[in-house]
Amino acid sequence: MSNSNNPAKKRVLFVCLGNICRSPAAEAIFRSKVIEKGEDFIDEIDSAGLNGYHNGEMADSRMIRAAKRRGYNITSISRKFNPDIDFDKFDLIIGMDDFNIKELKKLAKRAGEISKISKMTDFADGKSYGEVPDPYYGGEDGFDKVLDILENCSDGLIAKLRL
Ligand code: 4NP
Repeated sequence: MSNSNNPAKKRVLFVCLGNICRSPAAEAIFRSKVIEKGEDFIDEIDSAGLNGYHNGEMADSRMIRAAKRRGYNITSISRKFNPDIDFDKFDLIIGMDDFNIKELKKLAKRAGEISKISKMTDFADGKSYGEVPDPYYGGEDGFDKVLDILENCSDGLIAKLRL
């Protein structure tokens, strides 16, 4: 995951609303799987939020705990999605739910930006999920449900990028 300029290598950005629950978990899970599988098609993995309310904060402690139980270490610090930089820098911009996708598409201005946007559940591997649901206002089981979906879709995303 060095910062080479090989155009065959992809830069992947996961996006949710607050960047403290779903997208930091997606970042950690996807990174862990890429490293574990020894994949070499990724240059950079990052995450961002659409609302910036939690800028500078660690991920939600409930998500950090739930991920740690599965062996994932969430270390990212919340930041707001920056359309002026992120649409240029990243090859894949992956939202978690339909609202994220709608907001990302509103922020896309130049040709080619919209085509970089996809929904995490589009990569589901042998399952069908509509969205990665926001767990913020729910109970502990919501965080495990998010992790189940993210693990499955990360496997599917890796399989797709490998082609
Ligand atoms: P996330 O969950 O989008 O998965 O990080 C949320 C966390 C915080 C807020 C919204 C969603 N919030 O508005 O504070």
